[in-house]
Amino acid sequence: MHAKAPPSGKIGLAVLISGRGSNLQSIIDACRIDGFPAEIKVVISNIPDAYGLVRAQNADIPTRIVSHKDYTNKTDFEQKILGILDEFSVDLVCLAGFMRIISPVLITPWEGRIINIHPSLLPKHKGLHTHERAIEAGDTTSGCTIHYVTPGVDEGEIILQRSVPILPDDTPDTLAARVLEQEHIAYPDAIRRMAAQISKSA
Ligand code: GRF
Repeated sequence: MHAKAPPSGKIGLAVLISGRGSNLQSIIDACRIDGFPAEIKVVISNIPDAYGLVRAQNADIPTRIVSHKDYTNKTDFEQKILGILDEFSVDLVCLAGFMRIISPVLITPWEGRIINIHPSLLPKHKGLHTHERAIEAGDTTSGCTIHYVTPGVDEGEIILQRSVPILPDDTPDTLAARVLEQEHIAYPDAIRRMAAQISKSA
């Protein structure tokens, strides 16, 4: 089992990214707010030049690169990540634009303590190209979902959702931008909720 929440009352986060890291930035910014119940212990990227790594370095947060390309199998890749989570005494793992499908090797030891953000109102539009699909389906509402990670992709229990309207002239890009604004509110909110839950169970 993972470490208990530290005596400071703040839970330790690992944020896993693959790209630009705007959600990571929203978490970094939230952690700077007085009384926010979490701190980022480590940022892990599977992409060596992900811009999110620069964001983490600018905030003096330790970073680790675990490139899936360096591993011949997923188990070794995920075991490397598990080792880093232990090294940094992490309480909650936050996937934030982490573009690898992960297996029970990584999920099971962190069950209930690993969460993801998805840019649709799940259970609608699991997987990729969510904004195109929401528009094509004629939906009038979209949004984002924070959910627990389970072996079924985008299928874990929902923690919270935030909605936005889909406007008649929306393109996938304009819709993505509207949803992203809500993502940046949703992730810090979800972390607050998780921190309250983790502190109670510690
Ligand atoms: C976000 O839209 C997130 O919902 C999805 O991937 C995107 C990552 O964006 N899973 P960023 O790297 O956080 O800017």
